[in-house]
Amino acid sequence: MSVLLTGGAGYIGSHTAVELLNLDKEIVIVDNFSNSKMSSIENVKKITGKDVKVYNADIRDKEGIDKIFKENNVEEVIHFAGLKAVGESTEKPLEYYDNNVNGTICLLEVMKENNVKKIIFSSSATVYGISEKLPITENMKVSAFNVYGRTKEMIEYILKDLYESDKTWSVVLLRYFNPIGAHESGLIGENPNGIPNNLMPYINKVAAGKLECLSVFGNDYDTPDGTGIRDYIHVVDLALGHVKSLEKIKNTSGVFIYNLGTGVGYSVLDIINAFEKVNNLKINYKIVSRRPGDIAVCYADATKARTELGWVTTKTLEDMCKDSWRFEQNNN
Ligand code: NAD
Ligand code: UD1
Repeated sequence: MSVLLTGGAGYIGSHTAVELLNLDKEIVIVDNFSNSKMSSIENVKKITGKDVKVYNADIRDKEGIDKIFKENNVEEVIHFAGLKAVGESTEKPLEYYDNNVNGTICLLEVMKENNVKKIIFSSSATVYGISEKLPITENMKVSAFNVYGRTKEMIEYILKDLYESDKTWSVVLLRYFNPIGAHESGLIGENPNGIPNNLMPYINKVAAGKLECLSVFGNDYDTPDGTGIRDYIHVVDLALGHVKSLEKIKNTSGVFIYNLGTGVGYSVLDIINAFEKVNNLKINYKIVSRRPGDIAVCYADATKARTELGWVTTKTLEDMCKDSWRFEQNNN
């Protein structure tokens, strides 16, 4: 019996692959390598000393995916595959709806045909839009306000409707907060193409001297130091949330929604300070105006994942900063 990971060569998928292999689970990876490289799989093998079955395929290729299901005894699916750049999603909405929403429908059709009805889906805290109160709990209303977020919201509805039509499905919707960090080996991590949009990859490039200066988007928010606050979570803790979710869906059916965050918010200046301190270097930064679409504060109430999944985060902000920088130094 194996677990199929769509998008398993990517940032979060590769870390989850490592944790599953460490537990001797059989895994199959399907990825079209649109935002990853085969070398990440080679590094997963290096870290774990285990072999990995990998297919270069697109989830929208139903015939190809069906063949993969038939060749492998797939029991569960962890569905990471998707496009994830918020800005790009606004410029290319059709590409995002096709890849993320249509891609998921294709995958679900193949799953149904093969009687595989257990799925863990990579959703995002972005579905909450501007939350009515903090910390954010899973029962708060969802109202994404960009194309990327809407693809996640739509897929959540599709999975819920699918369950309503057939109560033998078992679905976990994981709403990730802000994943950063890398595996402590320094072999796998986040390596975005071009100029990064997100905070930690940008800090890494400034630290490495590849970009001159970090722009801090606003210091006039209603927060203690005026900069935006987010719930940063180490990618290895996040990966372990998938391991726990797999245990959950093994013998149950239903739709289960979990926030995966630490429950603690850090400001942009907190992150810069921690990064400088643990890595003993200086980050050149300047305060600029707010980034359109940004919210002031966002952090999770992760109680539900703790009580229902027995999942707790163990990595600190210092671990996140140290591991991110180690990966940057090793790989670029
Ligand atoms: P990533 O881009 O590193 O990984 C996604 C992988 O999916 C890539 O390897 C890509 O090549 C593959 N892929 C994309 N479209 C595909 C398709 N049609 N067929 C097959 N493979 C395809 O991204 P990540 O950070 O690892 O994110 C994984 C998932 O988690 C995504 O769905 C993303 O939207 C979601 N998510 C990520 C974050 C984050 O900050 N990283 C936050 C919330 C949710
Ligand atoms: C981003 C995504 C969101 C996704 C989330 C999880 C955007 C607009 N949103 O959220 O959909 O769910 O990641 O990974 O991309 N910042 C700077 N300077 C920078 C970059 C960021 O000051 O160069 C600040 C931002 O204003 C924010 C914080 O750092 O306060 C974090 O930003 P970022 O890493 O981009 O994540 P989010 O915007 O929270």
